[in-house]
Amino acid sequence: MKVTILGAAGGIGQALSLLLKTRLPEGSHLSLYDISPITPGIAVDLSHIPTSVEMTGFTGDDITLALKDAKIVLVAAGFARKPGMDRSDLLHLNAGIIKNLISQISITSPHAMIGVITNPINTIVPIAAKVLKKIGVYNRTKLFGITTLDIIRANTFLALFTGKKPEAFNTPVIGGHSGSTILPLLSQTNYNVQLTEKDIYNLTKRIQNAGTEVLESKSGGGSATLSMAYAATNFCLSLVRALKGESNVIEFAYVEGQGEYAKFFSQPLVLGKNGIIKYCLIENLSKFEECALIKMLDQLKHDIQLGESLVQ
Ligand SMILES: NC(=O)c1ccc[n+]([C@@H]2O[C@H](COP(=O)([O-])OP(=O)(O)OC[C@H]3O[C@@H](n4cnc5c(N)ncnc54)[C@H](O)[C@@H]3O)[C@@H](O)[C@H]2O)c1
Repeated sequence: MKVTILGAAGGIGQALSLLLKTRLPEGSHLSLYDISPITPGIAVDLSHIPTSVEMTGFTGDDITLALKDAKIVLVAAGFARKPGMDRSDLLHLNAGIIKNLISQISITSPHAMIGVITNPINTIVPIAAKVLKKIGVYNRTKLFGITTLDIIRANTFLALFTGKKPEAFNTPVIGGHSGSTILPLLSQTNYNVQLTEKDIYNLTKRIQNAGTEVLESKSGGGSATLSMAYAATNFCLSLVRALKGESNVIEFAYVEGQGEYAKFFSQPLVLGKNGIIKYCLIENLSKFEECALIKMLDQLKHDIQLGESLVQ
């Protein structure tokens, strides 16, 4: 099982590398790549941790060895937000990086599952899809925008609010991955929590603005890295379990689905050896959630079209 991280020397990349070195199954190979020259050294550093996960690290123009035979590629390369920016401000900085990296993946590991972390997810994933389509290797069941961070935030904030254990919560979050396009389905969390309309409004806003909460707390020093690395690790381990043949692996991710709401949408998925095997239905929304869903769709569709228009 080879997992490759692109952007491995960044704030997310390094923490993600550490977590995967300690949590990937025995016999896995973790391959790191970044344009930063410290990347081979990060691999050496991690290789001293006593787990049976082989480490390799690469930098420079040739990414081939880093990607060769990868079953999973996680893309965390690119610029992160600074205070005052929203995720869409990153688009022009990150679109070029993604086009280049996705082209390289399509050549060297065209059958890999690809998990995109780079923001703005709403637009970057449609760009990645269009690049893969143009090259002729697009498989929509294997391209994921990782939105797991929204779910762990929803679970944590609900636990803080109710005084229950955060580990016990499982809260669906659907839609996109910025501002009002992030829609937590608080009515469908696994606990029977009693929330007033005001609680629901306030918790929803906090989950939607949680990225900005971190950004401002770091006084301009970066956006969410450690919680994101934790979220991406969980997502990656679900892909590993699915690839190894475990049944009923369910994850939420931003993918090209059935187009019921928008061409790309974060939704519950059943994962298998070849990627998505089932797009689960989104049902029984509360009135508040239905309204929020309808309201966000124009923004989400705009973000998607923008991405597609950037790949000619
Ligand atoms: N999906 C999410 O929920 C989520 C959450 C937080 C941040 N993010 C996004 O993740 C991305 C990374 O964030 P970060 O805080 O780690 O940023 P960072 O600046 O700390 O790290 C980015 C890394 O990418 C590398 N890089 C740049 N161009 C590259 C290329 N062409 N090939 C390989 N590596 C390259 C840089 O050298 C750097 O090491 C940002 O776009 C950020 O907005 C996503």
